[in-house]
Amino acid sequence: MKRTGFATRLGAIAATVGSAVGLGNIWRFPYQAGENGGGAYILVYLLCVLLLGVPIMMSEFVIGRSTHKSMKGAIEQLSPGSPFKFFAYVGVLGALLICGYYSVVCGWVIEYLWSSVSGTLLNHTPEQYSEIFTTFVGTPQRCVMWTLLFLVLNFLVLNRGIEKGVERISNVMMPVLFVLLIVFCVNSLMLPDSDDGLEFLFEVDFDDLGWKGVVDAMGQAFMSLSLGVTCLITYSSYFKDDSNLMKDAVTISMLDSLVAILAGIVIFPAVFSFGLEPNAGPKLIFEILPTIFQQLPGGTIWAVLFFVLLFFASITSTISLSEIPITFMIDEYNISRIKAIIITAVLMTIVAVLSALSFSTLSDVKLLDRNIFDFLDFVGPNFFMLLGGLVTAIYVGWFLNKDIIHNQLTNGGAHRSRFVQPYIIFSLRYIAPVAIILIFLYYVGII
Ligand code: PHE
Repeated sequence: MKRTGFATRLGAIAATVGSAVGLGNIWRFPYQAGENGGGAYILVYLLCVLLLGVPIMMSEFVIGRSTHKSMKGAIEQLSPGSPFKFFAYVGVLGALLICGYYSVVCGWVIEYLWSSVSGTLLNHTPEQYSEIFTTFVGTPQRCVMWTLLFLVLNFLVLNRGIEKGVERISNVMMPVLFVLLIVFCVNSLMLPDSDDGLEFLFEVDFDDLGWKGVVDAMGQAFMSLSLGVTCLITYSSYFKDDSNLMKDAVTISMLDSLVAILAGIVIFPAVFSFGLEPNAGPKLIFEILPTIFQQLPGGTIWAVLFFVLLFFASITSTISLSEIPITFMIDEYNISRIKAIIITAVLMTIVAVLSALSFSTLSDVKLLDRNIFDFLDFVGPNFFMLLGGLVTAIYVGWFLNKDIIHNQLTNGGAHRSRFVQPYIIFSLRYIAPVAIILIFLYYVGII
């Protein structure tokens, strides 16, 4: 089957930024930082981005761009007969599960967009915002309805072909989102007692962290950079041969982390200024943002604008997640794109509905002591993505032909860097595998 592609190089890179920047940065990062005590978590998160994230992102780019294929076909071409290709299935399964629960949060975004537009969102007390959220997620029909609406929109965009949808959305939306976050940061920093929020974010105290915090920080780094589920292999298979993979990976990782930190600077000064708890969990931003919007003149307009942008940031991420099983089925089973889209849509809808119901009808169903949503929010990043990252690091670090890596990273010697390449290889061979294996040993109770 013919694959569709991005129209321009900028398009493929912009779409990759679109994949990376999403609810992971704006919803998940603040709530995880809040649960894990702030500063030390953020420091470990940034270290994970630098030491593991950037090298693994480059590896996915090398695999994708050198073959112009998605994971399984790419490995078959690069290392015929190698068992590494079977990890494509881990990526596909991980993507289905992650996109399933992620779509529920996208549904929450639509609910908040809807109540902003209809003028009912603002003018409540912080306690009321917390209740409003809890009542909403406890209402099964409403949650499921928005989640399904989101999935329909997601698959409609996918059906139009990747280049038309994602590229245009990302190009326009990202810069506006960025500016908006800066405006909100300034506003939050002007709140009374905003210093306490900054202290929470940037004062490093390892007593607050523990192993759980380290695991969460590593999972979050992978989640935020879209690593380990072969998404970036698929996207980079559309990159032009002259794009600078080293520079692109560094730029994308920096931008992505910057957006997460900005989200933290928006949220935490407000949390402390309004005397709320930083460890509210997944509802954190949905409680805090309305209190921030109502501080601003024309609050409703800011709310609408923000949730529209958050919606677009989310859909450019779910599109990239959905593209993993779709491209896999097209490449692997030679079926039509529309068939692959329908199969993916059905599977994701099942996961999404189960997750949407985990705050109401299915709240008693527990896996590892968590409801279905929290379970997927845990195993998606902290298991599937880490496992995928481990396999990618080992494959590229130890098994992939060094000339291929060198040629891809330098474009045949055009962009040299004395430091970056040895550092990347060292990280892929030693730092990333050791760090991820330590986490897995922790899971099984050996640490
Ligand atoms: N990186 C996205 C976010 O932070 C989520 C994502 C994960 C997208 C994996 C694609 C693949 O919102």
